[in-house]
Amino acid sequence: MLIASILPLLTFIGCGDKSDDTAASSDAFAAEWDAYAISAPTAEITTQLTATPFLWPEQVCVDATGLELTEDTELSEDNEVCVWDNFSGNVPEGIPFTDLLTCDRSFTQGPPWFAPPGRVYESDSALLDDAEYAEDLEWVSDQVATSGCACCHDSSSGSGHTSGFDISAPGIWTDSMTNSQLSMAAGMFSEKDLFGHYDASVNHGFDRTESLFATTDPERMKAFFTAEFERRDGSEADLEEAEGQFDALFGRLFEDVYDCIDPYEGIIEGTIAWNGDGVRQIYILEEDAETPGFPPNLHLPEGTVWALFADATAAPLESGAVIPGVVPDGAMQAWPEDGSTPELIEGRTYRLYTSPDVMIPREANCTFTWN
Ligand code: HEC
Repeated sequence: MLIASILPLLTFIGCGDKSDDTAASSDAFAAEWDAYAISAPTAEITTQLTATPFLWPEQVCVDATGLELTEDTELSEDNEVCVWDNFSGNVPEGIPFTDLLTCDRSFTQGPPWFAPPGRVYESDSALLDDAEYAEDLEWVSDQVATSGCACCHDSSSGSGHTSGFDISAPGIWTDSMTNSQLSMAAGMFSEKDLFGHYDASVNHGFDRTESLFATTDPERMKAFFTAEFERRDGSEADLEEAEGQFDALFGRLFEDVYDCIDPYEGIIEGTIAWNGDGVRQIYILEEDAETPGFPPNLHLPEGTVWALFADATAAPLESGAVIPGVVPDGAMQAWPEDGSTPELIEGRTYRLYTSPDVMIPREANCTFTWN
């Protein structure tokens, strides 16, 4: 009895210091993580995230005077830096996105909910003794900080909203990412392309065709996240989880098209009809066109005949209120780009696609015959 009751005490006295030392040397950031807490967004930001229609990308030009730019940075004739204000856009390397742009637009494209970032993996902080690793870790964080992604994934951006994971989390910040997220970031899935991208030539050299985060060095970006996934023994189950997330997000792009059901859907008495609520997007597509996806490069797929979008400040477009080819007040014709009226051919089958907003589950996705 006596031995049993003093044993824990002995263990405590005898080994306490030593095990503390070990813990300290392998987890130098434990205290920082303990103190780490990201607040929920304010009511105002929550409204931007959840109740604001998609704000279309816009190119914004900012006076370059006083900015720390590299020699290669492209400037306009008026000495301005021009950047695409969109979650796929990047500002020049070395500058945080939020130094040049607000998050108003980016906030309307990503998932809108707040999932407080935290530590989901405990890396050995001795990893940072490897100078190359430490440099890569910082480089990746700096690269992501130049993108609209930073609006929701970088607590040092000052955006007022960080959700999911945080590229400014303590120490080895990838500890805020799950293995499945590392695999997504490594660009291991072709679905990454479905998020949309700018050509590097108009995006300050940032390419998004090979990795999930746009980067000036795709090989280095991919290698970093791939090595992180391997270091943490990422498994088949992690990859399946990632695939499942992508399917949930993008499955709607591959849904079968059905025949419009008369008299609720299609062209009814000369107007566009669907069986449901108001929408912000109306498309008439060639029958075999792909489903419209994310801007900046997937929202007007080949075979788009007419694309009409409600203005962000206007009410949604209602079924039965729009005549094909006629742009009502409070909406803009995105295609044909030159503003011309689309020509529909009698007897031809087209596809009607209507959606409450960009990449939101559609209201109608059906074929009709024009006559
Ligand atoms: C409007 C805010 C917002 C923006 C902007 C944003 N994200 Fe996210 N992102 C989120 C939220 C919220 C989640 C989900 C967090 C959760 O539920 O764990 C998320 C999750 C992710 C995930 C993990 C997905 C998963 O299923 O686990 C990845 C990877 C990701 N984002 C990458 C990006 C990239 C790349 C960009 C920029 C091109 C970006 N995000 C921009 C809000 C945003």
